[in-house]
Amino acid sequence: MLSNGVKVTIAGSVINLFIGTFYSWSVFAGGLIHELGWTRTQASLPYTVEVLAFAVMMVVAGRIQDRFGARKASVISALLVGFSLILCSLFPVPLGLTLFFGLVYGTGAAFGYAAVTPAAMKWFPPEKRGLVTGFVVMSLAAGSLFWPTIISALLGKYGVVQTFFLWGLLLLAGMLIMASFISEPRIDPAEAAGKTAAARLPWEKIFTHPTFVLLWLMMGLAAGTGLMVVGHLVQIAELDFRVKGGFILVSLFALFNMGGRFSGGLITDRLGYEKVLLFSFLMSLVSMLLFLVTASWPGLVLGTVFLGLSYGSIFTAFPAAIVNTFGLYDFGAYYGLLFTALGIGGSLGPFLAGTLADYFGTYNMAFVLGMGAALLALALLSRLGRQNSRQAGSG
Ligand code: 2OP
Repeated sequence: MLSNGVKVTIAGSVINLFIGTFYSWSVFAGGLIHELGWTRTQASLPYTVEVLAFAVMMVVAGRIQDRFGARKASVISALLVGFSLILCSLFPVPLGLTLFFGLVYGTGAAFGYAAVTPAAMKWFPPEKRGLVTGFVVMSLAAGSLFWPTIISALLGKYGVVQTFFLWGLLLLAGMLIMASFISEPRIDPAEAAGKTAAARLPWEKIFTHPTFVLLWLMMGLAAGTGLMVVGHLVQIAELDFRVKGGFILVSLFALFNMGGRFSGGLITDRLGYEKVLLFSFLMSLVSMLLFLVTASWPGLVLGTVFLGLSYGSIFTAFPAAIVNTFGLYDFGAYYGLLFTALGIGGSLGPFLAGTLADYFGTYNMAFVLGMGAALLALALLSRLGRQNSRQAGSG
């Protein structure tokens, strides 16, 4: 018999696996461009809106999961995600997809993602929570290893409109089944309140808390750098390294993104989230340096590996930082608010990289920007370290 904790961890991972379909958007976009004659801009707009809606709705979704529980939030997620794709198949025009994939799917994804991590974490003692988080969020990245092959086979057989419909049905049924396994234990109020004196700050006052502000800035810098590079990886390979087949690098990134999530979880449990952030920012710095100074494929491959590890590990270190500082009670709201940094960094980063590459004819300035972001994140981390030791000393 599986324990409740293991059941919730597995069900949460499968929910994230389905939600992670959005990382394979470019496959759907290919169908829209080649079958329905959409422009690249029209085909990329639903994705851009989805990333923003996801980040913004994490705040609302987190609040709702704190108040009404993870199972209800997971059911809402299944309904929104499943029906959004079914609606895409009924209104396959740019406005329809921007609305249904962009806003509705993005909102549904936020409800699921905000619910399953805290639900799984609550079943385990603090020293195992990093590993559990790593496992649950790893599957979001894992999907991009095989969803593209399955979706493009469906596209070839049924066309893009019917593929939206079938994928919507699959996600609706699969996620509803998994949501029925999501449950939460009663948690000890003392433990739920977190370890430091900072705990139990009303969530709407969180931006007045210096630790939260530092975490928010670091999240924006790290996520912004990762999304900046992965969004342009194929073009970076062609323009700066004269290498074709950059899509293989996207899969390589996905693989190490997964590895970073899992190993980040393990290291968080053993050495604490600050160490994981330190490794993450250092790897990001080395990656940007490799992209900048090397000119052939080994540098490109190594840079992609380091960036995948760095990017993946932040998704286990930041939840741990929030629980460690503020406890589990309002975790959904706090983590949702932290995610607004990903929304901003994740839209600014890719946009700036594209603009700089158009202007200079190379991505070098984007890599310099990435190095600056990593150095700034390291400086903020050292400040956080000083702040945490002061608090530990006074508490
Ligand atoms: C992640 O990859 C959703 O971007 C977030 O975990």
